[in-house]
Amino acid sequence: MTTPSPYAARRARVAQALGPNGIALVPTAPERARNRDTDFLYRHDSYFYYLTGFTEPNALLVITGDGRSTLFCAPKDLEREIWDGYRLGPEAAPAALGVDAAIPMNDLDAQLPRLLENRDAVWFPFASHEGLEARVAGWLSKVRARVRFGAQCPQQQHDLCGVLDEMRLVKDAHEQDIMRRAAAISARAHIRAMQTSARMLRAGQDVREHHLDAELLHEFRMGGSQYPAYGSIVAAGANACVLHYRADAAPVRAGELVLIDAGCELDGYASDITRTFPANGTYTGPQRALYDLVLASQEAAVAATRAGARFTDPHDASVKVLAQGMLDVGLLDRNKVGHVDDVIAQRAYFRFYMHRTGHWLGMDVHDCGSYVEPSEVGTVSERQDPLSGETIKDRPSRILRPGMVLTIEPGIYVRPASDVPTQFHDIGIRIEDDAIVTAAGCELISRGVPVKADEIEALMRG
Ligand code: GLY
Ligand code: MN
Ligand code: MN
Repeated sequence: MTTPSPYAARRARVAQALGPNGIALVPTAPERARNRDTDFLYRHDSYFYYLTGFTEPNALLVITGDGRSTLFCAPKDLEREIWDGYRLGPEAAPAALGVDAAIPMNDLDAQLPRLLENRDAVWFPFASHEGLEARVAGWLSKVRARVRFGAQCPQQQHDLCGVLDEMRLVKDAHEQDIMRRAAAISARAHIRAMQTSARMLRAGQDVREHHLDAELLHEFRMGGSQYPAYGSIVAAGANACVLHYRADAAPVRAGELVLIDAGCELDGYASDITRTFPANGTYTGPQRALYDLVLASQEAAVAATRAGARFTDPHDASVKVLAQGMLDVGLLDRNKVGHVDDVIAQRAYFRFYMHRTGHWLGMDVHDCGSYVEPSEVGTVSERQDPLSGETIKDRPSRILRPGMVLTIEPGIYVRPASDVPTQFHDIGIRIEDDAIVTAAGCELISRGVPVKADEIEALMRG
């Protein structure tokens, strides 16, 4: 007996969740025009890919509660294939993808009403595929037109995202393997960019952020990655304090830091790594002081990441270390903000650390999955935010389970201000790794690129 593909196994789980007389519709992503005659590079829909492994555009998957799956896909068309490339086609799809049947996409509007007929409930992803709600309404109205001939129209519509998000949150062995490989490629890319920065500066060359971006792309593609998982951030000097900065043309200067937040996508899965290194290979004293603080906070967050812990535990652990460190190095004035507990309670650290310590990682770089523990969703507590004065409703944070994947990415960003020591002005540091939750702790899959300051300096000498 052959083991079912991961895609078939996932379709079977979805079928079970639908109930015996339910039906699920999952389209892939549309192609999008960039400008005249040119499309954006195509990226399939993550939900669709999760259930099919199929990367062609113009396709829709149907799963029914009896466990059957039907793929609508682009028909073979040798003339179009000369221009746009190979199509699998409906004849080859069942054997290639393990679906029970495949139908040309041209027949979708004619066939879908028949598939929807006499079902109790139709499931599809809500608010994630533009225009899908209207298309479903159109198909259902065709079913309704046949009610007087005895057809039953589904009475219920359900959001399939809830089912799929929960499934996607825990990565199976197949997914973990791809994510390890994606992170390994990205780690090599970071090393390459660091070494290029130091080498070009040693050679007296004019180094720009885009030169380092080019090194990242080179290593991504050499490793077989299809594209970056998100717009790479290559931020020299003060640009590192702009959280969503993109690689641009700013000069990379000796004596300044470079923050690179970049990860490749491999076979549909993202990696997400940040390193902050000295452009010429040697941290200055103030840079090193803040770097070691961010690293210590990351170590505390890593230690708090394990099955049974809450999603917010790593964040709380890193905030504790950062808050104490901000007092110790003089970023925060004890006379004004008090003790570390006050810094945390009043969120005085927020001025220098204004984002969360992590997010789910998977097919999407900010992956799907609820951050609230489903079994405790009814437990609500209220608090007042000390900075905005807003009333915030909190629900218990998600309990981590083996196979969940998250980033651990604390940072410090110091904008110039008269009450902040000048030696720290314009320093922006983030350290980000990708972690698979295990029973005893977590596996850091992105440590192919070192994080310790001494190790970064050593590899930049090489
Ligand atoms: N690169 C996006 C993030 O770190 O969340
Ligand atoms: Mn991230
Ligand atoms: Mn990142």
